[in-house]
Amino acid sequence: MSRKLQDHFFKDAKAAGYLARSAYKLLEIQQRHKIITPGMHVLDLGCSPGAWLQVACQALGPPHRKGCVIGIDLQEVKLPLRHCDGRVQALQMDAMQLTAADLRQAKAAAGQCSTLDRFHVVLSDMCHSTLGVAAADVARSLQLARCAASIAIGQSALEEDEDSQEDEGGLPEQGLLLPEGHLVAKLLQGEGSEELAKDMRKHFKKVAWMQPKATRSESREMYLVALGRKAM
Ligand SMILES: C[S@@+](CC[C@H](N)C(=O)[O-])C[C@H]1O[C@@H](n2cnc3c(N)ncnc32)[C@H](O)[C@@H]1O
Repeated sequence: MSRKLQDHFFKDAKAAGYLARSAYKLLEIQQRHKIITPGMHVLDLGCSPGAWLQVACQALGPPHRKGCVIGIDLQEVKLPLRHCDGRVQALQMDAMQLTAADLRQAKAAAGQCSTLDRFHVVLSDMCHSTLGVAAADVARSLQLARCAASIAIGQSALEEDEDSQEDEGGLPEQGLLLPEGHLVAKLLQGEGSEELAKDMRKHFKKVAWMQPKATRSESREMYLVALGRKAM
């Protein structure tokens, strides 16, 4: 992305009350694929500072349509004052350590505990700060994307393809994503990314790559958009 375009997204985000220009990445994904609709339950992995929480909450529609957005981040998240309401909650924790009990508690705080333990959409914008060593950065981002996929569809679904994954302990075996649900996961394209897309094609009706305009053009950052989880 050119410096001019970067400035443009930054200024627009500020004017629109979004916490970061990353809001425009999810807005573009949402515009193209309509992944979040009113009343849905959304899990946002790597949610800090909170711009995706804002966009996801807006997509839920007015509060009477219900739904919730649960954010997870290693960093403390101050819930945004704008474009968010009581349906949004955030937990400071490692997504790799997530348990069903944590999520139930967050959903209870968002007023949704009794209705549904699982989610219609799992988003992951998780990333590490880059090391500057391309192969290592790609491998670390792939690990986070695989963690998101495993949270969404369950460890055992991924183990059909390989058996070297970590145990995501404490989450339902079939994953947190409802049938017909959607997964969006960021990763740096490189070794292993096509393999992940291939694995996802076994579990979703449609799998596409997207590089939203708000992503720097020199970046290898891409979003894997997996739509319509197949019946288990
Ligand atoms: C690019 S930021 C996300 C921006 C966010 N989507 C927004 O729009 O405000 C990436 C985030 O991933 C988080 N992260 C990285 N590894 C994580 C992990 N294992 N568990 C939870 N969060 C993680 C980082 O702390 C960081 O805040």
